[in-house]
Amino acid sequence: MEEFHKVRRLPPYVFEQVNRLKASARSRGADIIDLGMGNPDLPTPKSIVDKLCEVVRDPRTHRYSSSRGIPGLRRAQAAYYARRFGVKLDPESQIVATLGSKEGFANMAQAITAPGDVVLCPNPTYPIHAFGFIMSGGVIRSMQAEPDEGFIPALERAVRHSIPKPLALILNYPSNPTACVATLDFYKDVVAFARKNDIIILSDLAYAEIYFEGAPPPSVLQVPGAMDVTVEFTSMSKTFSMPGWRMGFAVGNERLISALSRVKSYLDYGAFTPIQVAATAGLNSDGAEIDEVRSVYRRRRDVLVDSFGRAGWHVPPPPATMFAWAPIPEPFKAMGSLEFSKLLVEQADVAVAPGIGFGEHGDDYVRIALVENEHRIRQAARSIKRFLASAAQNADNVVPLSARR
Ligand SMILES: Cc1ncc(COP(=O)(O)O)c(C=O)c1O
Repeated sequence: MEEFHKVRRLPPYVFEQVNRLKASARSRGADIIDLGMGNPDLPTPKSIVDKLCEVVRDPRTHRYSSSRGIPGLRRAQAAYYARRFGVKLDPESQIVATLGSKEGFANMAQAITAPGDVVLCPNPTYPIHAFGFIMSGGVIRSMQAEPDEGFIPALERAVRHSIPKPLALILNYPSNPTACVATLDFYKDVVAFARKNDIIILSDLAYAEIYFEGAPPPSVLQVPGAMDVTVEFTSMSKTFSMPGWRMGFAVGNERLISALSRVKSYLDYGAFTPIQVAATAGLNSDGAEIDEVRSVYRRRRDVLVDSFGRAGWHVPPPPATMFAWAPIPEPFKAMGSLEFSKLLVEQADVAVAPGIGFGEHGDDYVRIALVENEHRIRQAARSIKRFLASAAQNADNVVPLSARR
């Protein structure tokens, strides 16, 4: 039987191949240090967990909830945007709560895409940015991921040479996987272009609070007039270490938010009410817990860059996010990121995410997630040092012919 139309458009998950190797190494007793998936390991703050436990005892909270999010939660998100970015949002018309930002993003794609619509998407990027649209019948045109002086000329070229004219542009700063951050000036240029050319901006700000250098990452909505064309997605997953709770937000342009709300009203009844109430408490808290999360990732980042560097693998320090975007060490470059990642699991007991899983332009890199503690990161570095040393001794056999690209 032929594969279904939609499923044929979803390539097998690249990360699955590394996961399988990891599982089989573990079943043989190997102690794999898992820096692969961006799955935060820190516990959700106690005050949020306590609030959930308190609220869940009230049977009135066990009914279907509100698909758009309970009013108090939307008000808390509006207060966060006002406090953090100086952006004023109407909780009634400009905010919708989502079941994690990934769900919100995918359903926004579903809400706005007609078959064949062109969407400009960074490459490499977090997979749902492209596949949300591909699943919705859209067509992806890749954009550079770096928010540098080449971006606007690339955008102009992309718009000039796309038929039909692109529907939307996806931004993701701080970026997963590259950890690039954007400035407000960059956003000003992009918003001016998008307004002039009538292009929707979808900004994924999942790492708004995980930053280590310079000013905190801005929101696109800080740019005057951005609200006319923009929706931005934020997440509780990283900021409050709540990945399993599935709580995020889409905020911005009323017409776009209304389209997303309409689709969601057919699909879901919102997150479980106790989760929404606990998330409200988190957003309304004084921010001390966010500072703590940030400082844990910062220490891990410093340990990673230092210990891997001393092991012989130069990893540029990420200015934000919970990931390092590490160039594959020279002797292994030719084999590509998937084979290199497999080799690391098999020979160094360390799992990372192959860059190719984020798009073809990621294949010279692997993504290292800061999701193990400092001790384990040092242990990974020692193991990689041994691996690199033994590879150097067998220099001629470092990249088997069969694995060369
Ligand atoms: C850039 C980016 N957006 C969205 C998500 C998904 O977040 P959520 O858990 O809110 O769905 C992730 C998770 O890794 C991410 O890296």
